[in-house]
Amino acid sequence: MDYRKLLALAEEAKEHSYSPYSGFRVGAAILSTDGKVITGTNVESATYGATVCAERAAVVRAVSEGYRDFEAIAVASDAEGGSFPCGICRQFLAEFGLGIKVITGKPDGDIKVNTVAELLPFSFTGEELQKRDKQ
Ligand code: THU
Repeated sequence: MDYRKLLALAEEAKEHSYSPYSGFRVGAAILSTDGKVITGTNVESATYGATVCAERAAVVRAVSEGYRDFEAIAVASDAEGGSFPCGICRQFLAEFGLGIKVITGKPDGDIKVNTVAELLPFSFTGEELQKRDKQ
């Protein structure tokens, strides 16, 4: 799928944002390796800390539907020029592959394509857990 189209789907998902506290809307659209697109949006909480970002919402929805192999995720936000996933979302995406491409920007403007590995260098993944010294 064309990554501008994926970003356009993330922009659409942004319309469903539940962000009464920050007023900052984010949408995400994740593309599975077999071509399925699943969207997510940010869902805020009065406790603030319980807020779920759009990217994690999309991943949780996708995994819940049986998708675990992803090619790319597009992120759309209210920020001028778009914005990158937060640190927690980078870690959450790394769980499913450092090679996943993260698409940011605007569908009709400049877009950036970076892998999760590029956005999360020196990452900690499940592989590290396998390397621990036996106690
Ligand atoms: N937000 C996301 O949905 N994704 C990010 O990667 C950055 C932040 C949301 C969380 C919160 O609802 C609002 O944006 C402001 O931080």
